[in-house]
Amino acid sequence: MTVNDSALLQAELEASAASLVAGQQPSWPDAAAVRTAVETLSAYPPLVFAGECDLLRDRMASAARGEAFVLQGGDCAETFVAATADNIRDRIKTILQMAAVLTYGASVPVVKIGRMGGQYAKPRSTGTETRDGVELPAYRGDMVNDFAFEASARTPDPNRLVRAYHASSATLNLVRAFTMGGFADLRHVHDWNKGFVANAANQKYDKLAHDIDMAMKFMAACGADFDAMRTVEFFAAHEALILDYERPMTRIDSRTGLAYDTSAHFVWVGERTRDLDGAHIDFVSRIQNPIGVKVSANAEPDQLLKLLDKIDPDRVPGRVTFITRMGAQTIRTALPSIVEQVTEAGAQVTWICDPMHGNTFSSTTGYKTRNFDDVVDEVRGFFEVHRALGTVPGGIHVELTGNDVTECLGGSEKILDADLEKRYESVCDPRLNHQQSLELAFLVAEMLGE
Ligand code: PEP
Ligand code: CO
Repeated sequence: MTVNDSALLQAELEASAASLVAGQQPSWPDAAAVRTAVETLSAYPPLVFAGECDLLRDRMASAARGEAFVLQGGDCAETFVAATADNIRDRIKTILQMAAVLTYGASVPVVKIGRMGGQYAKPRSTGTETRDGVELPAYRGDMVNDFAFEASARTPDPNRLVRAYHASSATLNLVRAFTMGGFADLRHVHDWNKGFVANAANQKYDKLAHDIDMAMKFMAACGADFDAMRTVEFFAAHEALILDYERPMTRIDSRTGLAYDTSAHFVWVGERTRDLDGAHIDFVSRIQNPIGVKVSANAEPDQLLKLLDKIDPDRVPGRVTFITRMGAQTIRTALPSIVEQVTEAGAQVTWICDPMHGNTFSSTTGYKTRNFDDVVDEVRGFFEVHRALGTVPGGIHVELTGNDVTECLGGSEKILDADLEKRYESVCDPRLNHQQSLELAFLVAEMLGE
């Protein structure tokens, strides 16, 4: 990238951001400090490379055709303090364990994507939060402000944009080491999964676990020992929400002269910021990365088609993923007409199910939670709808952690309302814990095999 290209690109992105409405942006109190942070970020090295984004676009295209299955998982909101080696390792481990089970169930490669190394910003339903008569700005993610309910902590601080870059950089560095350095060897991953089924509560998955074990023994007996068993492709994703972060991380690829958001391989636009004429859709239409768009039951197919014309006028396979998040009660009635109309319009999108965001409610004990059974049921509905229409259920997008938190109800550990307070650590939405994540993988593997 030459200095001129870069300056031109930034000027163009800035002009478009300034002329369009950008929802869910913080009110930074100090404009000069924002400019400094943006300049600092523009000068930093990219976190991912353009060629890796192109590779992921090809992988997403395979998933759209049913030749791969996407597993996207990670925190609702990452935090700076939680970006520790143990937490990162355990999240990677959980995703790899799920992927091994899903690969067997799907009999196709699983595209592994972490909601990590950048998931530091959150859209909020209200701009402020009131506790005991005190009103403060809402927590918008560590990239913007701090979770603590104090005026100084909640004041948006643009230095946090730079801290988010460093936390993402350290996270992705470790992710690359874990996934390329032998830790991700399928044989270790399989041994970890044996621990899961050894637990009496999980014995219902014995048959599938036994079948996978036989497949592994067969491969070992054949002397299978290839690179694909030792290392894995692992991609990073987050919601492209704060444009003062995504814009300076956008660079021109010297090979092709095209712009890429180098903060992650895959970025998505959330349910609350996908206005056709808003700044977020304009931003993602200008970058080459594979793009996700969250789609709730309220989405108008007509709007989605216009959105496709804007983000993907050339109908590039793998370019757009619709991440549907409708709720277990609604998916079977709301999804079919959306899929039908998009398909009839000739668009080749990848369909992924987010079974989390349409199933959130407040527990009797006052925690934001989700029922494990609703999560499973939404995925089941997703498979049913796509199979009935002859379209492809391309993957799942879940909020999870590798830790033994108590945030979602149910699962074979039978987490109850009264258990939520024991280890509720999310600063935003409730995540599946390690056991619940693996259990979901076993159940989805069964659905894939049906
Ligand atoms: C999220 O993925 O955490 C999120 C806020 O989702 P949505 O935009 O679908 O509400
Ligand atoms: Co969330």
